[in-house]
Amino acid sequence: MRLPLIAGNWKMNTNLAEAVKLVNDMRPHLDAIHDVEKVVCPPFISLSAVHEILKGSQLKVGAQNLHFEEKGAFTGEISPLMLTGLCEYVILGHSERRQYFQETDEVVNKKLKTALKFGLKPILCVGEKLAEYEDGLTSEVVTGQLKASLKDVTLSENLVVAYEPIWAIGTGKAANGTQANAVISRIRKIIQELSTESTSQCVRILYGGSVTMDNIQEFAGMPAIDGALVGGASLKPDQFISIVKQTAQINCHSQE
Ligand code: PGA
Repeated sequence: MRLPLIAGNWKMNTNLAEAVKLVNDMRPHLDAIHDVEKVVCPPFISLSAVHEILKGSQLKVGAQNLHFEEKGAFTGEISPLMLTGLCEYVILGHSERRQYFQETDEVVNKKLKTALKFGLKPILCVGEKLAEYEDGLTSEVVTGQLKASLKDVTLSENLVVAYEPIWAIGTGKAANGTQANAVISRIRKIIQELSTESTSQCVRILYGGSVTMDNIQEFAGMPAIDGALVGGASLKPDQFISIVKQTAQINCHSQE
């Protein structure tokens, strides 16, 4: 049984004071919800403060990116050595990194290997563009991204994959649950091809793209979907808490 995971990607939002307030506002509510793993991914400059606040909490911390080198002359970059001890997860290959910062699958592959080497759990994002979706290329695109990003990586339950159709991110146009479930089943097959049946059954695969408290049930209720990567709605305590709560309820029922 895979434990569902809800991760909030705050992106380039919140200054230090706002991040501290946001996590303080959400912590007591989220700590009271069990049967779901909860992660917040604040901007780098707030990681340390959020990590301090969450000591002893069930709410975990993730980073939004890292550099694949350990240290050196890479002005403006953040190394895995700076993240270890501050966070457990790291989002890699987000479509915004791919689109605006020219991150290729090859770079994502290097970052993924580095994350695992330093004990950080990657949340690997994959997903197709609108034109690819319209041309029926979703499976092909996602398969290509997965195979290239996971090249020569020994897979384990530490890997999380997030299927995020790019046309659904920040647009308010979420995919439908059945479609997302089909793509995610396909992703699990590919993970099985790249590892083993038992490993593929341990890897959690999330849906991301315009998830809110009004549509989370459509995704969390699907058999292949293990939770969500939430952008905009993770900045609103009521939304994020409700998303986590509903996911926990669905998980409880499915275990009955
Ligand atoms: P969104 O972002 O929930 O605002 O669509 C999701 C993401 O980018 O991970």
